[in-house]
Amino acid sequence: MTMPGVREAYDDAAESWRRGPEAVYARLADAMVGVAPVELQDALVLDVGAGTAVAARAALDRGASRAVASDVADGMLRGRPAGIPAVLADAASLPFADRTFDLVTAAFCLGHMADPVAVLREVRRVAPAVVASAFTPGPGHPVKAAVDEVFARHGFTAPPWYQRQKAELEPRVDDPDGLRSLGHAAGFWQVEVRQLEVDAGLESPAAVVAWRTGMAHLAPFVSGLDPALLARARAEAEEAVAPLLPVTISMLVLCGS
Ligand SMILES: C[S@@+](CC[C@H](N)C(=O)[O-])C[C@H]1O[C@@H](n2cnc3c(N)ncnc32)[C@H](O)[C@@H]1O
Repeated sequence: MTMPGVREAYDDAAESWRRGPEAVYARLADAMVGVAPVELQDALVLDVGAGTAVAARAALDRGASRAVASDVADGMLRGRPAGIPAVLADAASLPFADRTFDLVTAAFCLGHMADPVAVLREVRRVAPAVVASAFTPGPGHPVKAAVDEVFARHGFTAPPWYQRQKAELEPRVDDPDGLRSLGHAAGFWQVEVRQLEVDAGLESPAAVVAWRTGMAHLAPFVSGLDPALLARARAEAEEAVAPLLPVTISMLVLCGS
């Protein structure tokens, strides 16, 4: 089931997402797909919670014969590359027959799901293998807090859907043992959780700020700011993150089969 406000937030943020976060998530997706528990050559892949389908694209780049993207947010799916078919669907209820695919990719979306075990069971119904990612526990790279703090000084408060998600996050999603237990609870036999460190590829403070301001929790506030104020806040954020570069992102990858 989609958590309240999440679909609307991603629909609203889709344009900003493509200008900033997408490039970062593309690198993370490539690293995730690189440890998939099945051979990708000629595989049929379903990308759930696909957003702009960066994981589907990574699977195709690594030899998959076909990749389909599915998400609840139409705005995100519209940003997918040409040649990747899309299906508007909740990951908990996928409109596909049993074992239609060889692999499901689920990049950074389990944390949005009200019942991640139910989602992983549904994933297992449509494919024998899954690769899913989440951030490692904790606040993450310090540039995240640095940018949020600058915009907080200009009036930003996290929207209710985001606060609820933080408060109610299924504790197993961003914890290696927890993620492993989710995989087992969903019925996968072989379950492994890897920790990967990925260079975010952000070479300038401006690129870091574009990443953070394109995220769904912050993008609507940023796009509502008066242009002069926005320019000032961006400059302040760039100054705050400059000493914190480069950005390496630590992620967990659940491999189940
Ligand atoms: C952080 S984004 C990640 C997008 C993409 N996987 C990536 O790595 O770039 C999370 C995505 O999950 C989608 N999502 C949230 N809840 C969902 C649900 N119940 N079913 C399918 N997609 C969902 C959102 O619309 C959003 O596109």
